[in-house]
Amino acid sequence: MKLRRLLFEAGNAALRPLGLTLGRLEGDFQTSAPKGTLHDLILVSLTDVWGHWYDAMAADDSIGYTPKITKREFTERVLDFLDDYRTFTGKNMRSGGLLLNNTLSLFAVAAYFDAPTIIDSGTYTGNSAWALSRACPAAAIKSFDITHVALRHREPGVTYHLGDWSGIVTEPVSGNAFGFFDDHVDQVRRVEECAARNIRYLVFDDDTPVNASHTGHNTASFPKLSFIYSDPLRRASLVEWNRLGKEFAVPIDHERLDYARSLIAHYSRLPDLFPATGCTHQWPLAVVVLKKPSAGSEERGRVTGA
Ligand SMILES: C[S@@+](CC[C@H](N)C(=O)[O-])C[C@H]1O[C@@H](n2cnc3c(N)ncnc32)[C@H](O)[C@@H]1O
Repeated sequence: MKLRRLLFEAGNAALRPLGLTLGRLEGDFQTSAPKGTLHDLILVSLTDVWGHWYDAMAADDSIGYTPKITKREFTERVLDFLDDYRTFTGKNMRSGGLLLNNTLSLFAVAAYFDAPTIIDSGTYTGNSAWALSRACPAAAIKSFDITHVALRHREPGVTYHLGDWSGIVTEPVSGNAFGFFDDHVDQVRRVEECAARNIRYLVFDDDTPVNASHTGHNTASFPKLSFIYSDPLRRASLVEWNRLGKEFAVPIDHERLDYARSLIAHYSRLPDLFPATGCTHQWPLAVVVLKKPSAGSEERGRVTGA
């Protein structure tokens, strides 16, 4: 093993009991930058990927949404965002927040749905709120976190709130609102909260497939959306794993998973951009579209956490 690698591993071993690790800068067009033809090839690939995604979403009747933007305008906006991202000084330089692929994906979905009201749960450095404001400059964007210690970029026009969104947004929101959840909180709870507050278009980070649950380091962020759609899980009452010597167990509440499923019109995973950009791989984001509230009622379910 090279000396540098040995020192890196020794540093990590010393920090592990404190729950800390040494990080490394990610190669998201910062430590390496494609030029000329290589850059153009990435743009061609992204145009292809997002063009297919646009077609599939527009053709999916369960979503019940006709995009206001044409496919050509949409893919052009996605490519333009790459230039914005390159020069954005608030971007995350290491994992812990969204890196290029998922920031670009968040921008794309938000630009597609173009909602008038946007919730960003998990402000962290301010990266996702910034991407959402680029996607929907006219939207009212509210960003929530339980701490602002990591907040580096405050975007004019975005309002930043301390606390869980469910205790702050206590009434149903008018119009078809959009929510991004990257807050390490139970994702089924977030679906229930959104249904009660009329947030219809949802994007989630960290929706790991059930079989990757063992990569999780807390149980507060479970169940994931993937639990709602796992047929093998129908036979289980518990998902358990061991990570770095710690035991974790998530009980499976089938009734709750079924209820969440009954609220959802569409669930899919966004395209994996790693093969297109070569930038750091993270689990692709997940998209959920909730069913429209029944006629005559703007509200559905009970507003919890209020
Ligand atoms: C992975 S980071 C968010 C990354 C960010 N969205 C980005 O674009 O890089 C997760 C954040 O969720 C926050 N968090 C934890 N519990 C929360 C809660 N109940 N509501 C909102 N944010 C919460 C953490 O403090 C942390 O800043």
